[in-house]
Amino acid sequence: MSTEQLPPGYALHLGAERMDVFAVHAFLTHTYWGAGIPLEVVERAVRHSLCVGVVAAEGQQVAFARAITDHATFAYLADVYVLPEHRGRGLSRVMLSTLFAQPELMNLRRFMLATRDAHALYAGYGFTPLERPERMMERHDPQVYQRLSAGQTD
Ligand SMILES: CC(C)(COP(=O)(O)OP(=O)(O)OC[C@H]1O[C@@H](n2cnc3c(N)ncnc32)[C@H](O)[C@@H]1OP(=O)(O)O)[C@@H](O)C(=O)NCCC(=O)NCCS
Repeated sequence: MSTEQLPPGYALHLGAERMDVFAVHAFLTHTYWGAGIPLEVVERAVRHSLCVGVVAAEGQQVAFARAITDHATFAYLADVYVLPEHRGRGLSRVMLSTLFAQPELMNLRRFMLATRDAHALYAGYGFTPLERPERMMERHDPQVYQRLSAGQTD
């Protein structure tokens, strides 16, 4: 999808170098999944991801999403958000459609994501619950950002 589907006053930005990492960090550090995430971690994550964002008329980045990917076989959708005062205007739909249309994300064997309550949003893009959850495993460390912030690196 293209920028003309955004409401007036909004612009779509594609590419890590066009993201405002300070704005992204300011939001993520207060989310349930990114609580306490250090700025340097956000900066590194953005730099190594396929990123898309939406900027409002006054230049403020108000939405963000990124895909972590090898550009060939697999991707993981992460950190999708729209600032509260800009929600309900279709920004996430334009962002996600644009991201999913990137050539690097075509013909992947698996595209994954995790969500607490936005299943219906992603179902519209073909995402389903895991077909065989017993085959999937994870290593999950929800306290890692708190340890990093406290200077504990081991
Ligand atoms: C989820 C979120 C990104 C949606 O952004 P948005 O710009 O308001 O969404 P849109 O206006 O593009 O609406 C997209 C559609 O998704 C639906 N939707 C939005 N949030 C949803 C949710 N939590 N669960 C199910 N559907 C949702 C909307 O109703 C809309 O459907 P419609 O077009 O049929 O009316 C936004 O609510 C947000 O930032 N939430 C907090 C962060 C978060 O939870 N991110 C998801 C992590 S997986």
